[in-house]
Amino acid sequence: MKKVKLGFIGVGDIAQSRHIPSFQALKEKVEIVGVHDVNVTRAQEVAKQFGIPYVYYQYDDLFPNVDAVVVCTPNKFHHEIAISALEANVHVLCEKPMAITYEKAQRMLQAAQKADRLLAIAYQYRFTEVAQLAKQAVLQYEIGEPLVTRIQAMRRRKVPGWGVFTNRELQGGGSLIDFGCHFLDLAIWLLGNPKPIEVMGKTYNRLSKTPHQINDWGPFDHETFDVDDHVSGYITFENNLSLLFECSWAANIKEDVKHLSISGDHGGLSVFPFELYQPKLGTLMNSISEAKADLIKAGMHQAENFIDTCLGTDELVVKPEEALKVTKMIDALYQSSEIGTSIILQ
Ligand SMILES: NC(=O)c1ccc[n+]([C@@H]2O[C@H](COP(=O)([O-])OP(=O)(O)OC[C@H]3O[C@@H](n4cnc5c(N)ncnc54)[C@H](O)[C@@H]3O)[C@@H](O)[C@H]2O)c1
Repeated sequence: MKKVKLGFIGVGDIAQSRHIPSFQALKEKVEIVGVHDVNVTRAQEVAKQFGIPYVYYQYDDLFPNVDAVVVCTPNKFHHEIAISALEANVHVLCEKPMAITYEKAQRMLQAAQKADRLLAIAYQYRFTEVAQLAKQAVLQYEIGEPLVTRIQAMRRRKVPGWGVFTNRELQGGGSLIDFGCHFLDLAIWLLGNPKPIEVMGKTYNRLSKTPHQINDWGPFDHETFDVDDHVSGYITFENNLSLLFECSWAANIKEDVKHLSISGDHGGLSVFPFELYQPKLGTLMNSISEAKADLIKAGMHQAENFIDTCLGTDELVVKPEEALKVTKMIDALYQSSEIGTSIILQ
């Protein structure tokens, strides 16, 4: 069988912990040819550690030697690198968020369409068992017509103190663009990709700007911290759908919460864990599943879906048009907070 030749651009934490092991587990379908990182020492160490033959000093030197690349750089560089790869006829799996602005993400989609190459975005929560079950439940009309979606992606004190996560210029934002994005993506997928109409958002960073904060994920500099650590929002969509949103890296709450629920006109569901709530047999019934939200397995399914789509035997689960919509909502939440009124989307 023909193998997909794969390269990596940016080989920090997520490339080493998730993507390289996931693709190496598919060795009958994938050959990892080389890596590039602006930190050449890191690129060399990673190549040695994972037995990858080549280190490339310029990312575009990778392109003639591969069929596809995985982009795992800080968010600011996603669009530039992905567009260069697509223009060189190379498929792209790009880490989330798609880009730091809607306009940049749009250009990525256009480049993929023009080159007729794949552009997948690493929204791996879709590949968890719980999310797959929730999707089946919606498709099989277990909850009827969805009405209200609730998202709480809440960390009490988990600001990522490493890398560049607290740097707005390099990441485009904080808790929303980094963590909340996964749940917005999951919601629009479960809801059948509805068109957002109006977005109201409010962002905060009061806690992380205050010195001597307790943080479970290591120290960070409160003075240079210039992104959001807590965001609330309200989004309405076509078909009478509405979404209540909250995410945080730091908030004064009792404990971390990961919640996505949809209340429909026939029943309701929660994703973490997967549960169904329905009136049945003249009473209110709750069904509780044994399904897991294992992100390591999800990363492996994501890798397989990308490679199988490169080989023409599957289709992308996360389509670039959907990831673009997530970035559109993120942009609108930030913009709404800045100007203090809701944003009407075209
Ligand atoms: N899907 C998820 O759940 C998830 C989780 C963590 C991170 N991420 C995303 O992955 C990306 C990387 O995050 P990370 O945690 O691995 O960060 P990291 O800081 O550990 O690694 C980033 C790497 O990119 C390199 N780099 C920086 N600029 C570059 C450039 N212009 N060209 C090439 N290499 C460059 C850095 O030297 C570093 O090795 C981010 O977009 C982040 O949002 C996604």
